[in-house]
Amino acid sequence: MRLAPMASVTNAPFRLIARECGSGRVTSEEIDARALLYDNAHTRALARYLPEERPIAMQLLGSDPDVLAEAARRLEAVGADVVDLNMGCPVSKIVAKGQGAALMRDPAAAALIFRFMRKALRVPLTVKIRGGWDERSLNAVEIARIAESEGVDGITVHPRTRSQQFTGRAPWEVIAAVVGAVRIPVTGNGDVRSRADAEAMRRATGCADVMVGRGALGAPWTVAPAAPTREERARVIRRHCQLIAGLLDERQALLQLRKHLAWYLGALPLAARTRAAMFQAPDAAAIQAIFWERWEVGPALL
Ligand SMILES: Cc1cc2nc3c(=O)[nH]c(=O)nc-3n(C[C@H](O)[C@H](O)[C@H](O)COP(=O)(O)O)c2cc1C
Repeated sequence: MRLAPMASVTNAPFRLIARECGSGRVTSEEIDARALLYDNAHTRALARYLPEERPIAMQLLGSDPDVLAEAARRLEAVGADVVDLNMGCPVSKIVAKGQGAALMRDPAAAALIFRFMRKALRVPLTVKIRGGWDERSLNAVEIARIAESEGVDGITVHPRTRSQQFTGRAPWEVIAAVVGAVRIPVTGNGDVRSRADAEAMRRATGCADVMVGRGALGAPWTVAPAAPTREERARVIRRHCQLIAGLLDERQALLQLRKHLAWYLGALPLAARTRAAMFQAPDAAAIQAIFWERWEVGPALL
């Protein structure tokens, strides 16, 4: 099982936590290829990682084959073990630029991108695709075959279409169809929230590995071989807080602490009230104090 890439979430602290919980290769947040070439400071930060996270895939967003190939080379130069191409991002301002899921609409353009990126890299190239653009253009199998024939080394399938965004059920049969169509490893993704779900996905689709996205928010131990005790979960959360405080600047640290601790509260009783208090707390110490006070009460008493 592996942690899925999530923009503004899967930064170095969370990726390392996921690795320590047992995740296989982690993936960076999506990185804009053109901004990387312009040496944009924010984009450069997205490509930073800790040696203990490796192996790490770094994911590129883009649409121009030359720009993507050059950006892929740069990522390899900073230590990416794998470069991944994002063909799934559904966000309007991204697809309006022909990037992310928009690449699913133009198989010929996608083929050229695969070819240029593959030629630029020595490390493996993988792609992360959706089922298709919409219900009338379910072309994951076609794109996967093209990817394989252009030398792409692995494919992740999130089988919803772009127009489905994150709604409805993830149709796992699309993953099975891709597994049946290519020989390169296929990773299944979509609606996995537990190890049992991951096993069910493997059985239903024959996929080689499973990626977990939203199921790991507030629960990075979803990827662990065994369910953790409450004490083990508390240890993971403490370590995550330390990594956030130690690795991020003060502003980012506050944002990330609020976000992740709110997820760790999950469905605990009074979680909404505690979340509101954390969002008003002035600094990292105060946010953590509110969280641990609530955590210590535990689910049983309320
Ligand atoms: C907040 C958020 C950010 C995401 N960012 C990315 C991204 O940067 N790159 C990417 O390929 N997918 C991204 N995704 C999609 C996930 O990797 C995954 O494909 C999707 O959430 C479905 O899996 P799940 O049902 O396990 O969440 C994002 C999803 C969420 C919820």
